[in-house]
Amino acid sequence: MTAFAGFDLEYRADPYPQYRALREATPLYQLPGGVSLVTRYEDCAAALSETKWGRADANGFNPFAPELSHEHLPFLFLDPPDHTRLRGLVSKAFTPRMIAGLRPLIESTVDELLTELLAADEADLVESFAYPLPLRVICAMLGVPARDRPLFGGWSSALARGLDPGPLLSPSERDARAHAMQDGKAYFRDLLAKRRAEPADDLVSALAAVEEQGDVLTESELLNTFALLLSGGFETTVSLIANGTLALLRNPGQLALWRETPDLAPHAIEELARYEPSVQIAARVAQGPLKLAGHAFGNGDGIVLLLASANRDPEAFEDPDRLDLTRYTRPAPAHLSFAKGIHFCLGAALARLEVEIAMDALVRRAPGIELVTEDLTYLPNVSIRRMRALPVRLR
Ligand code: HEM
Repeated sequence: MTAFAGFDLEYRADPYPQYRALREATPLYQLPGGVSLVTRYEDCAAALSETKWGRADANGFNPFAPELSHEHLPFLFLDPPDHTRLRGLVSKAFTPRMIAGLRPLIESTVDELLTELLAADEADLVESFAYPLPLRVICAMLGVPARDRPLFGGWSSALARGLDPGPLLSPSERDARAHAMQDGKAYFRDLLAKRRAEPADDLVSALAAVEEQGDVLTESELLNTFALLLSGGFETTVSLIANGTLALLRNPGQLALWRETPDLAPHAIEELARYEPSVQIAARVAQGPLKLAGHAFGNGDGIVLLLASANRDPEAFEDPDRLDLTRYTRPAPAHLSFAKGIHFCLGAALARLEVEIAMDALVRRAPGIELVTEDLTYLPNVSIRRMRALPVRLR
């Protein structure tokens, strides 16, 4: 078998044929650095469901980010019991009622952005639609004032690249990640102090109150959590709106079907999430002897789950490389784009609501939308994959 090159920048625009060739050749592929890449749906789903496939080994060592100590990591990168405690506290802000309460804000933001977008003949859909929507929503949720939003663009892109496995990052990218974490924490330390003095109706105030009521979480844990919500809730959603729109523009029959079919939106975005997963990989570490894909692993062994390959596995999905917006109108296996198990995306309901409102409005209000060029440049990120810009013609 030739070496796997699917993470190389030259394949960012379309890594799927590389994933497919690897998945057909083997369920498990050794990456440089001794980490195994898991290619098939059944094995990826099994690993996500097994808590002994943790974020660090049995001694708390994380081979994917050895330079980051436990106190710098948000709960996405922690194991029980810390993960359980922190996720439990934040979950209170993600109840169905809380998410439904964000609908008016999402609808008015989408309306405003689309009205501006449609006034232009041509525009970059990333810059003027996919990017500002989730940024405004997450900032509103956290209580970050509008004037501070631009700060987050830079931090968030450094953190998004920083999610890639350590060995794929250059020293300067690792530095940028560390600086973004420091700056983000400093910003939230400041905001936290302001909200302690004068609470508002936002998540920073709500969690500050939880911290004050007892020693359930430390200030550092709180700041890491804010940074996680900001970065986890932002770049991923940008990526789904941008990649989802591109997939529709390349499949005009499906785009027309969406436009003609009332109530297709929730099913359509589920299929787009399967077809173009914003988070292409997930990393796990064995916390003791484990078996996966017929192979024995021991404490400290790292695996990278190729979620984007699992979602296109023909053993799980019929005709997996076809974009079929009606797929989830029928029973179909759950895709792994929001993961599975204890780290299942806490913001999945919010992401679904945002993407559904945004894309349904775009599909219906921009009937003449077309791609200006197929020549798109992609960010170097492996995990959170998207193009830098998506130029579209609107009339
Ligand atoms: C299309 C958008 C999104 C996608 C595709 C996505 C995907 C994911 C995935 C795959 C994970 C698990 C990663 C792993 O197990 O290694 C995750 C975790 C998480 N996501 Fe999302 N996400 C999205 C939007 C959001 C939003 C909007 C928020 C919050 C505002 C959010 C908050 C989180 C949090 C807090 C976790 C950590 C959960 C835990 O460790 O228990 N995500 N997300």
